[in-house]
Amino acid sequence: MRAVAVIPAERQVRLVEHPEPVVASPTDVKLRMLEVGVCGTDREIVTFQYGSPPQGSEYLVIGHESLAEVVEAGASVTRVRPGDLVVPMVRRPCPHATCAPCRAGRQDFCVTGEFTERGIRGAHGFMTEFVVDDERYMNVVPPGLRDVAVLTEPLTIAEKAVAEVWKVQQRLTWSRTARSGQPPGHGQRAVVLGAGPVGLLGAMLLTDAGFETTVYSRASGPHDKAGLVRSLGAGYVAAETHTIQQLAERIGNIDLVYEATGASRVAFEMLAGLGTNGVFVFTGVPGRKGPVELDTDLIMRNLVLNNQLVFGTVNANRDAYEGAIRHLGSFAARWPQALRRLITSRTPLPEAPTLLTSEPAGIKSVVAIP
Ligand code: BGC
Ligand code: ZN
Repeated sequence: MRAVAVIPAERQVRLVEHPEPVVASPTDVKLRMLEVGVCGTDREIVTFQYGSPPQGSEYLVIGHESLAEVVEAGASVTRVRPGDLVVPMVRRPCPHATCAPCRAGRQDFCVTGEFTERGIRGAHGFMTEFVVDDERYMNVVPPGLRDVAVLTEPLTIAEKAVAEVWKVQQRLTWSRTARSGQPPGHGQRAVVLGAGPVGLLGAMLLTDAGFETTVYSRASGPHDKAGLVRSLGAGYVAAETHTIQQLAERIGNIDLVYEATGASRVAFEMLAGLGTNGVFVFTGVPGRKGPVELDTDLIMRNLVLNNQLVFGTVNANRDAYEGAIRHLGSFAARWPQALRRLITSRTPLPEAPTLLTSEPAGIKSVVAIP
């Protein structure tokens, strides 16, 4: 069958013939891949800055954001049935008995670093016709979400982040919004840095959670991201017209920053604008571009004197996938057009190598497989 692969030794990205996998264990399921999203991580992999083929393979089949249809289920499979739409998880646990997070099904917190990630690190991905994997990594999607469910995986990043924000903000015992009828972020202000798919999905999730949300980003571009953001009921502030400081002054106390740019300078400038008792979440993985100058005294003073908290988050667990699928359902009901507008192109599989190696355009590019 056909697959899109990265061949590091040859410095190539191309369509390869890859053996069609078979159901080998009673808990295996076979998937027909329907769609695969492309993100910054994929672009790093195809420029050989990140990622690695499985042991013994010269190539890595790329693709980790996906949507598939179950076509066959092993004898003891109970989670899914042929015909179900599913989104498979990305990360697989490390093999070590001593890795408590992996043994607890929380490989997103693996401590040995020997996890694999399908389509990224040490395991083939999803940009191919068929995939076989264990049922435990499958998340069933309602058929009504067929056209947007490929956004599940990028939304899991925000799901995990927000779940952790609720945990850490339990420290603010008086502000628990048990207030009837109000969503948990009610009365709080959030800033989303970046208007790529991770930022825009984050803005949807935060707005849905009741935060007064502002997206801060560079030029809105031909896809009118500003208009898209405003259609959610969130604010849009352009980096061209407002400095970070002006942004912070305009908003007031910033309770949460959700960083989704991978641009470290902007992020740390924003950190200096975080409000009292605020939380700052990093999700971007910047390329190394050399040191920048920062007012570290100011940042440290603010962190201490304002009880601030900073954390990073990578990958996601099953709860985050289930939350993402549920929330895509709410977004589809609340903002049907904005949600569909996040997917700006669908490219057939044979043209995927060109898509992956040309300048990114639009919001989310998707490869349509069958
Ligand atoms: C993926 C995550 C993954 C991370 C690091 C991201 O693009 O969405 O699932 O853990 O890259 O490899
Ligand atoms: Zn990704």
